[in-house]
Amino acid sequence: MRKNQTLGEFIIEKQTEFQYSSGELSKLINAIRLAAKVVNHEVNKAGLVDITGSYGDTNIQGEEQQKLDVLAHEKFIQTLTNREIVCGIASEEEESFISINSLDNRHQNKYVVLIDPLDGSSNIDVNVSVGTIFSIYRRITPIGTPVTLEDFLQPGKNQVAAGYVVYGTSTMLVYTTGHGVNGFTLNPAIGTFYLSHPNMQYTETGKIYSVNEGNYIHFPQGVKDYIKYCQQEEDDRPYTSRYIGSLVSDFHRNMIKGGIYLYPESSKAPNGKLRLLYECNPMAFIAEQAGGSASDGFRRILDLQPSALHQRTPFFCGSRKMVATLEAFMHKSP
Ligand code: AHG
Ligand code: MN
Ligand code: MN
Ligand code: MN
Repeated sequence: MRKNQTLGEFIIEKQTEFQYSSGELSKLINAIRLAAKVVNHEVNKAGLVDITGSYGDTNIQGEEQQKLDVLAHEKFIQTLTNREIVCGIASEEEESFISINSLDNRHQNKYVVLIDPLDGSSNIDVNVSVGTIFSIYRRITPIGTPVTLEDFLQPGKNQVAAGYVVYGTSTMLVYTTGHGVNGFTLNPAIGTFYLSHPNMQYTETGKIYSVNEGNYIHFPQGVKDYIKYCQQEEDDRPYTSRYIGSLVSDFHRNMIKGGIYLYPESSKAPNGKLRLLYECNPMAFIAEQAGGSASDGFRRILDLQPSALHQRTPFFCGSRKMVATLEAFMHKSP
């Protein structure tokens, strides 16, 4: 691994090392790299062309879809489908999973992908960072047969790879294949990602807490107590509060600086808001690979057995000691 190595070079180097057996995962990550560049191009010109604002439809989450939600979804689906490198895709923007099959390639691929094509879509119209999240599993059903729901409903600990793209002040692609976390920054002039953040690591503890405090009144007592703890003057506290409202951007900042991200359940949303399969699991995998942790308040996120594609879960993620302290508060006052 060399700093300033391109993502393309990095993928080839890793393929020839021990990690990937057939090269299929390398091709898949290459396709995600390409789709990320296409979406980046669209996001960058969002204020210039008519792609901001509502699409005029509601998705399966009950959310008003933004034009860029739909565009990013289509670009990722197209790029992955055209290259015939996955056997199935599930997306936040579509009710059911997509099974990929063609005359030349009858369900021959072994990976399924789950994506949040555009994360933080409420931030598009105000020129604040948004992202993409992806999660990759090996299928459970046999090669040569159509994928089934079972292939997608795997616990997060089965992930083969996961990552995100942050379309921020610069565009970065950060991912893991279970051997640490590496971050690549796009040089927009030549359209190439360079390794800029090798071996990303959380600090054991941090000074940032990130939560939508407007929902405070609806939070469980343990979360309320933890937030008050963050604000107390003692030891290295009070902590700093930072909340962008894009999971990808909030997570990225906390991984670099040290901190905790909280999206609790509330009396309004008993399972929280974030989706287990394409938001929490990939972020939890990256967090653990970077020395952090992720919990639903009581259990490790990666151990949860999903029962539905669009299932939600409370989510607490970040520096290990901070998540452990939050869990202690939850145990005391669930
Ligand atoms: P998405 O835009 O993919 O639907 O995700 C929105 C999520 C996440 O990005 C963010 O952290 C969270 O919603 C913000 O929710 P609140 O506005 O309730 O704080
Ligand atoms: Mn959404
Ligand atoms: Mn999201
Ligand atoms: Mn989204």
